Amino acid sequence: MAPEIKKPLRLGVNIDHIATIRNARGGAHPDPVRAAELVACAGADGITAHLREDRRHIVDDDMRRLKEEIDLPLNFEMAATAEMLQLVSDVKPHGCCLVPENRKERTTEGGLDVAGQHNFIAPFVRELTDIGARVSLFVDPETSQIEAAKSTGAPVIEIHTGAYYEATAATDPARISAEFEKIKSAAELADSIGLEVHAGHGLTFWNVQPVAAIPQIVELNIGHFLVGEAVFMGLGEAVKEMKRLMQDARTGAHY
Ligand code: PXP
Repeated sequence: MAPEIKKPLRLGVNIDHIATIRNARGGAHPDPVRAAELVACAGADGITAHLREDRRHIVDDDMRRLKEEIDLPLNFEMAATAEMLQLVSDVKPHGCCLVPENRKERTTEGGLDVAGQHNFIAPFVRELTDIGARVSLFVDPETSQIEAAKSTGAPVIEIHTGAYYEATAATDPARISAEFEKIKSAAELADSIGLEVHAGHGLTFWNVQPVAAIPQIVELNIGHFLVGEAVFMGLGEAVKEMKRLMQDARTGAHY
C-alpha cells in the first residue's frame, strides 16, 4: 500500500488579546502589529484577528496595518454584517472567517448556524468571494453544518474545538474522547466533500496534539493560550513550542 501523504499543518496565531491588553490602558502599547511581526519570525504561518462589532480588542486601523505591514496571510475573523463587508473591501485580507457574534459573550461561544441561516450566509459568502477573500465558516463538528457549509460555496471550514477544550479542562476522559471523535469525523466528512479543514478555539500545549494529528486538518488557529503563555515564556518561544508540538503530532514523532 502506498504510504499516506501527510498534508502540512499551518499555525495561524490570533493576536486579539495583545490588543485587549493595549486597550486596558487606552494607549498604543502593546502593539498587535509588532506582535504579529514577532510571531512571523517565530514561525507562524498566518495571522488571525477578530474585528468585533464593539471593537473590544482589534480596531479597524489594526486590520489595515496588519495587511500592509505583515507578510503573512491575514485571516479577518468577523460577523456577517454590512459594516464588516465594507471593511473587508477596504482591507482586502487573504481570508475571512465568518463567526457568530453575540454582544454579551466573552469569546465566540459556538459555531455558525449555517444550516439554519443558509439563505443569508450563502449570498454573503459570494460577496466576500467577489472581493477576493477566501472564505471560511466557523462551524461546530456536526454533519448538517458541514454539508450546509459546502452548499454555500465557501471553500473552507474551521471546526470549533471549544467543546473539546471544555472536556480537556474538566479532565473527563469519556467526554474528551467523545468530543475528539466528533472533530475527527467532521474533518473526514469535510475533506471528503472537498472542503479545506481548519480548527481552533481553546487549543493549548496540553490538548493540541490529538487535533494536530488529524490528517485532514491543515490549519490551527490559536490565540488566548499563546498570549497567556507569553507572560511566562515569551510570545516567540510560545509560538515555537506550539509549532513543535503540532509538527511532532503530525509526523508521529512524540505522539
Ligand atoms: N478560531 C476562531 C474562529 C475563533 O473565534 C477563535 C477565538 O477568537 C479562535 C480560533 C482562537 O481561539 P483561542 O483564542 O481560544 O485560541
